[in-house]
Amino acid sequence: MAYRHAGGLSSNDSSRGAFQKYVIVSQNAVAELPDEIGLERGVVLPLGISTAAAGLYQKSYLALPFPSPDAALSYDRIVLIWGGSSSVGSCAIQLAVASGAEVFATASSRNFDYVKKLGASTVFDYHDANVGDQIVDALEGKTLAGVYHAVGADGAVQTCARIADRSKGKAIVVTVRGVPDNGIPSSVRVKAISSSTIFQDGNPVGPDVWRRYLPKALAKGALIPKPDPLIIGNGLRSVQHGLDKQQAGVSARKVVVNKIDEDSSHEV
Ligand SMILES: NC(=O)c1ccc[n+]([C@@H]2O[C@H](COP(=O)([O-])OP(=O)(O)OC[C@H]3O[C@@H](n4cnc5c(N)ncnc54)[C@H](OP(=O)(O)O)[C@@H]3O)[C@@H](O)[C@H]2O)c1
Repeated sequence: MAYRHAGGLSSNDSSRGAFQKYVIVSQNAVAELPDEIGLERGVVLPLGISTAAAGLYQKSYLALPFPSPDAALSYDRIVLIWGGSSSVGSCAIQLAVASGAEVFATASSRNFDYVKKLGASTVFDYHDANVGDQIVDALEGKTLAGVYHAVGADGAVQTCARIADRSKGKAIVVTVRGVPDNGIPSSVRVKAISSSTIFQDGNPVGPDVWRRYLPKALAKGALIPKPDPLIIGNGLRSVQHGLDKQQAGVSARKVVVNKIDEDSSHEV
């Protein structure tokens, strides 16, 4: 079995869109899924992995060493992942650790264990008013490889940028959202991520992560599909229900619509 990243949104081509029985995808956006991982679990990965990889590995982003599914790499840098329990954050933690970096992350306290099991060494509660100071203190004596902003919260990019400004290392914040118009210290570069760029011709990140790293890492259990799926129902009729659920907010779960060619939905 295989899973793939459908790029309909970025290509504006419905034949490449998700939620249909047959989809055209780039050959670099397909990876084998080990038999013991069911499709329902495997499908939580594609968008999260591509978005995480786009921010972590591209040259003008954090430019970490590519992840290894085999040997433990050593890269004497810290990556701060803001929103470690989001789908993108869960993948970013695992990839950054597989690149040998140490990971600091933010999450609600109920998700501290979850984020640590993914590989973060230290987790901070973003609800604390002084979370920025706590992180800057913990970064004392360490070198930042950059900050990965992985959630859509207001003001968080500016908080990340102030932390980078006050810490030693690379003053860059890569964000899953847009670059804010104000509130960014002049020493800090903020770059918006687009997951689809890793599949553009000549970009090594898509093939490296999807073709070289993922199949081996999943087979060895070095990477696990997280967050767990929150299965909304089967078939196209469940898609709107899934969007509503996502908009209402999830915590360390990935909304999944199952068996797209079947037609039965149920409430979660
Ligand atoms: N640019 C791209 O190519 C691209 C691709 C994919 C996604 N995105 C965007 O990336 C964002 C994340 O997507 P996703 O699907 O990974 O999100 P998600 O899984 O729905 O995010 C849910 C998580 O966000 C955390 N969270 C909520 N408010 C937070 C805050 N103020 N600070 C820190 N964490 C907070 C929650 O953590 P707790 O429960 O622990 O509180 C929760 O676990 C979305 O805005 C999405 O639109 C962009």
